[in-house]
Amino acid sequence: MKKKVLITRKLLRSNEDRASKLWDAKFNSNDEIYSPKKLIELSQGCDGILSSLTEKIDENILNSLSKSIKIISNFAVGFGNIDVQAAKKRNIVVTNTPDVLTDATAEIAMLLILGACRRANEGINWVKKENWKWSSDFLIGKQLTGSRLGILGMGRIGRAVAKIAKSFGMEIHYRNRKKLSPDEENGAVYHDSIKSLFSVSDVLSICCPATKETKDIINKETLEYFPTGAVITNVARGDMIDDEAMVQALISRKIYAIGLDVYKGEPKIYSEYLKQPTAFILPHLGSATKKTRTAMADLAISNIEEFFSTGKCKNIIN
Ligand code: GLV
Repeated sequence: MKKKVLITRKLLRSNEDRASKLWDAKFNSNDEIYSPKKLIELSQGCDGILSSLTEKIDENILNSLSKSIKIISNFAVGFGNIDVQAAKKRNIVVTNTPDVLTDATAEIAMLLILGACRRANEGINWVKKENWKWSSDFLIGKQLTGSRLGILGMGRIGRAVAKIAKSFGMEIHYRNRKKLSPDEENGAVYHDSIKSLFSVSDVLSICCPATKETKDIINKETLEYFPTGAVITNVARGDMIDDEAMVQALISRKIYAIGLDVYKGEPKIYSEYLKQPTAFILPHLGSATKKTRTAMADLAISNIEEFFSTGKCKNIIN
């Protein structure tokens, strides 16, 4: 008998084809975001769930899911949307999709850095108004060459950003839970505190996971650590930024510009960001290429398959 798997969001065609060959799969053809109630209802009789970052699966939901659920395979590298400890208590294995989205996400991290430093949002607005003209001081931005890039979180994505940024002539500094080996550091300078990192960051790229420790790590107090005129970018999760403090820092010009791909409570965006010409903002596109989304869903499917056939899986996070 085929296993039953609930797939909470629409996948690319080739991924859905694979899932339907393997399982009795419940697809979401309208791609609606399920309410907790609907998620619980749809889980009845299923052996596993292939979830995405748009479902917040907290302890209450976990305790109400069908008892037949043994695995939740999250279609993302981040797993802050799932209470993984509560899942463990209920004997539900949770997996994620590391590695396959590293390069695509690092590309978006660079786009944010470039977009914020070179005033892309203002440039696009001028082009749309059709009344711009070239002049020697028109939309002067910040050049990456020779400037210092601070990377908060030097995991796979942080290291991929470092590699690209280095080729742009940036000097790399980082803060991480642990210092990397010289090989992994590849010339980057380790900082043992965020104060030390932020104080040398002409540009910051946030690449760390959302945890209790990193929540609101950019706040009124820590914004003061930055050199005046620094640029802050975030390709990880919105939870890391106190939005109100950030907008104040933009208005006061302490912070020159920001580049954001992720938001607290997304798809809602703190509305003040939309009014800031120096905010270069994207709708969570980090992993959005065909190659990467295909590979991510493929890995999320393989995680479930490996678990069903062996009881184990490489990418278990709890
Ligand atoms: C995307 O944001 C992911 O965590 O995979």
